[in-house]
Amino acid sequence: MLKGKKIVLGITGSIAAYKSCLIIRQLIKKGAEVQVVITPAGKEFITPITLSALTCKPVISEFFSQRDGTWHSHVNLGLWADAMLIAPATASTIGKMANGIADNMLITTYLSMKAPVFIAPAMDLDMYAHPSTQKNLQTLQSYGNHVIEPGTGFLASKLEGKGRMEEPENIVAALEAFFAKQCDLEGECILITAGPTYEKIDPVRFIGNYSSGKMGFALAEECARRGADVTLVCGPVSAAMQTEHPNIHRINVESAQQMYEVCKERFPSMTSAVLCAAVADYAPEAVAMEKMKRTADDLVIRLKPNPDIAAALGKMKQAGQKLVGFALETNNEESNAQSKLKKKNFDFIVLNSLKNKGAGFQTDTNQITIITPQGKTEYALKPKTEVAKDIIDRLVQQG
Ligand code: CTP
Repeated sequence: MLKGKKIVLGITGSIAAYKSCLIIRQLIKKGAEVQVVITPAGKEFITPITLSALTCKPVISEFFSQRDGTWHSHVNLGLWADAMLIAPATASTIGKMANGIADNMLITTYLSMKAPVFIAPAMDLDMYAHPSTQKNLQTLQSYGNHVIEPGTGFLASKLEGKGRMEEPENIVAALEAFFAKQCDLEGECILITAGPTYEKIDPVRFIGNYSSGKMGFALAEECARRGADVTLVCGPVSAAMQTEHPNIHRINVESAQQMYEVCKERFPSMTSAVLCAAVADYAPEAVAMEKMKRTADDLVIRLKPNPDIAAALGKMKQAGQKLVGFALETNNEESNAQSKLKKKNFDFIVLNSLKNKGAGFQTDTNQITIITPQGKTEYALKPKTEVAKDIIDRLVQQG
C-alpha cells in the first residue's frame, strides 16, 4: 500500500524525534519515498545528517538553502506529496497549524499541502489534556486532518502514556490503512442521485424543495476518490455546486421524470446506486404553455404522481448490485425508514431527521442513522464530507 507513495515527514522539537528514524526506516522498507521537513527546535533533538542518511534526501528546514540560497518551495512539496505526516507533533506546532501561524518551513508546507495530513501528537499528559491542545486538535480534525492519537496502541490503560507519541509501527499502520481504503472502490460503477427536482407549473414557476445537493456531491467525491467510476444524476442545484474529481460524470436533469429515465437506463451497468436526491412525489398534471395569470378565484393545480425511482431500481436490482436510499422524516422516523427499506428493496437506508439541529437541507453538516434489515447504527453530527465516508464505508462492508 505504501509502495511508491511520497510522504512528507514533518519533525518537531520533542524527545520523541528519535522515533522518526524508525518511522522513516519502516516507510522506506515498505517502498515509500520520504522527504523530511524539520522545525528549528526539531534539530535540537535529532541531526539532519542522520535523517538525510536514512531518507537519501537533503533535509529541509529553512526557507532558503544555507549554501547557495536556493529557495525551498513549500508549494511544490504540497503538490508532490501523497501524504504529510507530522510525527512527533508538539503542542506548539499543533497550535500553529490550527491557527495558521506560518513562521517556519513545516507550517508553510502544511498550509500548502494538497494531500491528506496525519498528526501524531507527542507531549506530556498535562499538556495533551489541556483544553487548548484539545481544542486545537479538534480544529485540525474539523479541517479534515487525521489525528493519530497517542496511546491508541497501548492495550492496558488508555490513560497510561497518553500524550506519548504513538508507536512508529502503529503510525505507519495508520498510513497503510488510509491508502488501502483509498482504492477500495476500484472497478466499481456507482450511480448517485442528488439535489431537488423541479416540477413545472408554467414557463416561470415550478414545485421544488430545499435540497442543496451537498450530501450527494460529497458522496460522489468520496466514491471517486476511493477509485469508483461515478455517474452523478443531478437535479437543479446552485451554479456553485461543481464536481472536482475527473471520474465523476455529471448528468443534469430537472424533473423527477427526467431523473427516472436516466437512472433506469444507467442502473443495469452499475454495481451500486445511492439515491440521495429529494425527488418530488407529484408533478402538475398539465403544464400551462403560457404564464398563468392572477384571477379573483382560488387556484387549483391538480397533481399526478411521479415515478418512484428508488422503487423502480429496487425491482430491477440484480444479485451483486447494491441499492442505498435516504429518508428524511419528521415523525415515526425509524418505523417509516424501516418500511421504506423493505418497500424499495434497499440494502440499507440513511435516515436523517429534520428534528436534529444541523441535519438535513442546506446545511454543511448532517446527523444520520443507518438502518439495515438487521439493525441500526447512529452517528454523530459531522460535516457532510465525513458523513459521506461513513455511508461509503457501510456500502463497502455490505460486501
Ligand atoms: N425517491 C425516489 N423517487 C421518488 C421518491 C423518492 O427515488 N419519486 C427516493 C429518494 O431519493 C430516497 C428515498 O426514495 O432515497 C426515500 O424518499 P422519500 O421521499 O423519503 O420517500 P417516499 O417514497 O416519497 O415516501 P413518503 O413521501 O411517503 O415519505
